[in-house]
Amino acid sequence: MTTKTSLRNLPPGPKGRPVVGNLLAYSRDPLGFLTRCAREYGDVVKLGFPGPPAYLISHPEGVEYVLVKNNRNFVRDRYTRAELSILGNGLLVNEGESWRRQRRLVQPAFHRRRVEAFGETMVSFTGRMLDGWTDGETRDVHEEMMRLTLEIVAKTLFDADISHEAEGVGRSMDAIMAHSSDQGSSVFLRMLPDRLPTPGNLAYRRATRRLDGIIHALVEQRRRSGADTGDLLSMLLRAEDEDGEGMSDKQLRDEAMTIILAGHETTAIALSWTWYLLGKHPEVEARLSAELEEVLGGRAPTVEDLPRLRYSDAVIKESMRLYPPAWAVGREALEDCVIGGFHVPAGTQMFISQYVIQRDGRFFDDPESFDPDRWRDGRTEGLPQYAYFPFGGGPRLCIGSGFAKMEAVLLLATVAQRFKLEPVSGRLPVAQPSITLRPRDGIKTRLHERQPR
Ligand code: HEM
Repeated sequence: MTTKTSLRNLPPGPKGRPVVGNLLAYSRDPLGFLTRCAREYGDVVKLGFPGPPAYLISHPEGVEYVLVKNNRNFVRDRYTRAELSILGNGLLVNEGESWRRQRRLVQPAFHRRRVEAFGETMVSFTGRMLDGWTDGETRDVHEEMMRLTLEIVAKTLFDADISHEAEGVGRSMDAIMAHSSDQGSSVFLRMLPDRLPTPGNLAYRRATRRLDGIIHALVEQRRRSGADTGDLLSMLLRAEDEDGEGMSDKQLRDEAMTIILAGHETTAIALSWTWYLLGKHPEVEARLSAELEEVLGGRAPTVEDLPRLRYSDAVIKESMRLYPPAWAVGREALEDCVIGGFHVPAGTQMFISQYVIQRDGRFFDDPESFDPDRWRDGRTEGLPQYAYFPFGGGPRLCIGSGFAKMEAVLLLATVAQRFKLEPVSGRLPVAQPSITLRPRDGIKTRLHERQPR
């Protein structure tokens, strides 16, 4: 794949219908449609969407070119910007000098040593959740993971206990994701302005108000207490720009909203799919269990145990390969460029899908199978860096990747040590690609306590 030759040729792509192009096919099944496009037409595909040109990039070199080597030529794509409007101008959406300044400001809160100090809270909050579980009952483990990771992000980065708010936040998140997913999947809804009082728009607005209220209360409480607890919230409140101005209330709200939403939904999803996969692969579950017994011998895990929990780590990695919680990243080209020998005009909307690339047989043998050993037996050595990139890459690499990786393994180990989770339905959960890749109807599991109390 080349990014050098400057040919004015356009990439191949599927034929579409008049006016809507491929939008209907995409809306019916985004993951299937994009996968078929990549497999049939190659590493650079022109998608027939109404509006500006849209390209699907499905080769690690092309991904690296967009996210890293030529990253200054790309900003967030218009679809992601619209989907993430609830985050205002927070880190995920911000651009240019303002983004750089905010990223510099927030980065110290994610320093490795700081993040490691959160390990104890992560494990103890998980223990608290497990104390409420009983042998033989059925629970939606996706809901459990969402609530747990929300409580953890609030406690560790905002020193707040929002356990009493978790349900309300959960419902708001559902409304926000449903809105984004409807927008993505309905050609008709996409054409309606957000101002119209459709049921979806009204639910979305209610959800936004509720989340705003929670964040406002967090900030005001800290302001009133005047305490500097050294956490992320204190850093945001203390931040001043070159003119000695504090961060505006609006910017503060946007950053807090971004970290709270981006900081719990994705990790919860990674764990939810992992529980499903473990339930379907008893041989993997047995090996995980054996590792936990050998390394921990029944005690709760700590950060110091992580280097020895290598199989656990491979299980999470493999689960995020098959079900990347952030299933795609989008960009818009600012100026013309060339990718894979194809001309990319300014304004092109770039689709890059972890889901598509991480299931590509050129990079992973038997790509559809759940096989954590591929990360330990040398098969993935020499893998191009951007054949596996659940956290994105380049300057906009996920700021919480260290936090999330640690949290996922600690939570997996803490739960799996005490409970075995058996999926109740024999059917594969439907992966719903909205902003994230949620299991659409949750993951209902029967809980089996390993040593019933
Ligand atoms: C398994 C868990 C997670 C996954 C898969 C994930 C994935 C990603 C990806 C792919 C991006 C880059 C998006 C792009 O380039 O367009 C990103 C950005 C981001 N993530 Fe995560 N993330 C996870 C956990 C977290 C956590 C725990 C936090 C915070 C506590 C977080 C906060 C952010 C923020 C603030 C950004 C924007 C960074 C920037 O643009 O400067 N994420 N994440």
